[in-house]
Amino acid sequence: MKALTIALFLALGTVSATAQASGNLARGQELAEAVCAACHGMDGNLALVDDYPKIGGQHEDYLVFALRAYRSGDRDNAIMSPFASDLSDQDIRALAAWYARQDSVLRVMRLR
Ligand code: HEC
Repeated sequence: MKALTIALFLALGTVSATAQASGNLARGQELAEAVCAACHGMDGNLALVDDYPKIGGQHEDYLVFALRAYRSGDRDNAIMSPFASDLSDQDIRALAAWYARQDSVLRVMRLR
């Protein structure tokens, strides 16, 4: 019985750790709507201007990496950087979770 309790405890711990590793989707959606959608679209597939990147369906860890790089200044872009400079770690994880879960249009686009 004791072993079962310990096993259950460990299993629950793993589940909650996994949930925390990924951002809060509702928060991601809220921020995307308020800030990012104007240029990237709610699903990350709008490119307001042709060379604005599509981020829908992008790898979650890549999105976290890119947003942290803009925030720290390691990656600098006059248009994008200001929108990342005030994001908290939690907000970055939430946005990455949101955009990573959208469909990617790149899969259906033909290479020219
Ligand atoms: C005013 C337009 C604009 C807004 C608003 C904006 N972005 Fe961007 N974003 C850009 C542009 C332009 C780039 C390309 C910059 C570059 O070349 O480094 C970019 C790049 C990115 C990238 C890197 C993509 C890649 O393929 O490396 C991510 C991730 C990103 N934006 C996420 C966001 C998120 C999340 C928000 C909201 C907090 C946001 N952006 C708001 C214009 C915008």
